[in-house]
Amino acid sequence: MPTARRTATFTESVIREMTRIAAEHGALNLAQGFPDFPMPQPLKDAACTAIHADINQYAITWGSPPLRLAIAEKYRRWYGMDIDPERHITVTCGATEAMAAVFLALVNPGDEVIVLEPFYENYGPDAILAEATPVFVPLVQPGWTIDEERLRAAFTKKTKAIIVNTPHNPTGRVLSRDEISLIAELCVEHDVYAFTDEIYEHIRYAGAHHAIATWPGMAERTITISGLSKTFSCTGWRLGYAIAPEKESVAIRKVHDFLTVGAPAPLQAAAAIGMAFDADYYNHLALDYRARRDVMCESLREAGFTFSVPEGAYYILADFSQLSDLPDDEFAKWLTAEVGVATVPGSSFFRGGSTGGSKLVRFAFCKKTETLLAAGERLQSLRSLV
Ligand SMILES: Cc1ncc(COP(=O)(O)O)c(C=O)c1O
Repeated sequence: MPTARRTATFTESVIREMTRIAAEHGALNLAQGFPDFPMPQPLKDAACTAIHADINQYAITWGSPPLRLAIAEKYRRWYGMDIDPERHITVTCGATEAMAAVFLALVNPGDEVIVLEPFYENYGPDAILAEATPVFVPLVQPGWTIDEERLRAAFTKKTKAIIVNTPHNPTGRVLSRDEISLIAELCVEHDVYAFTDEIYEHIRYAGAHHAIATWPGMAERTITISGLSKTFSCTGWRLGYAIAPEKESVAIRKVHDFLTVGAPAPLQAAAAIGMAFDADYYNHLALDYRARRDVMCESLREAGFTFSVPEGAYYILADFSQLSDLPDDEFAKWLTAEVGVATVPGSSFFRGGSTGGSKLVRFAFCKKTETLLAAGERLQSLRSLV
């Protein structure tokens, strides 16, 4: 019996496939964006305490009250946002579920959703599952900036939403105030939602984090998505959230309820403690990542890759055309098997059929310095091998 047609329209995650290939070859995994160092001890302790305190049953579907309160308080402190934890927040199983639930709750079949390209690979399948049409707007090299005319031209009568991912995976761009203002202006003019993906909001080396929900006219049309995976180095906890106006939250909560019922209760209890961490924690996080970024950039430069230095997030999208004539997927597999460093082929961040990623691979540097130095050493052999 055939499986559902919708599953034939997207492939398995290339990122997770590369993780499997890395394991097969014993390669250093700079493919998938998860840290190989521990998450903060206070959060681990808080999770154990919650389990021992028998917080092990379903939490309220849209999130435990202490966590929602802590999220609202954090957004008030950091971004001056006025959020009612009772009406505006849905806690989900990761930002991944949040984005999928938001698509299913707010986008109708045939609606257009604008996606800046390259893009985090989940947005394509999200659009397909919601039967929406993704409209891709290429970021412009060098520097991966927004082309105002192309973005303007992408807005049509059918546009329902634009995805705003900053800091950006895979390019490391932090969108500027002017770029955010342009997106906000177009959303208001065309009555379009902004679905944000702010999962790297605290991992920045340049520029400020601009929460588009705080722009004039945007509070009522922004769905702010973020989560704990990156900020607290706990990608396996699967905790995220969507902050939305009341009407939209009602719809998102309905979808979320029937997809997952809720996120893990004891981890939500621990997450409330993380949300209250002060600026010191976030400053250290960014400084630690800056040091890792600098190690990785130096190794890649020495090995012969070219790239824009990331302003945020923890990836480097590197051009390997000076090193090999192979297409990106073959180069990535070769690099894993022969050099022992796993990356993600660039084409997985571009629409099907695009050649935009054919000379690119993405390195994730959310790894211990020793892992990055070991990868750097292996990469130095590259020139003699190619
Ligand atoms: C841009 C972006 N959004 C979302 C996610 C996944 O977030 P979560 O672990 O909260 O589902 C990732 C993970 O790599 C990401 O890069």
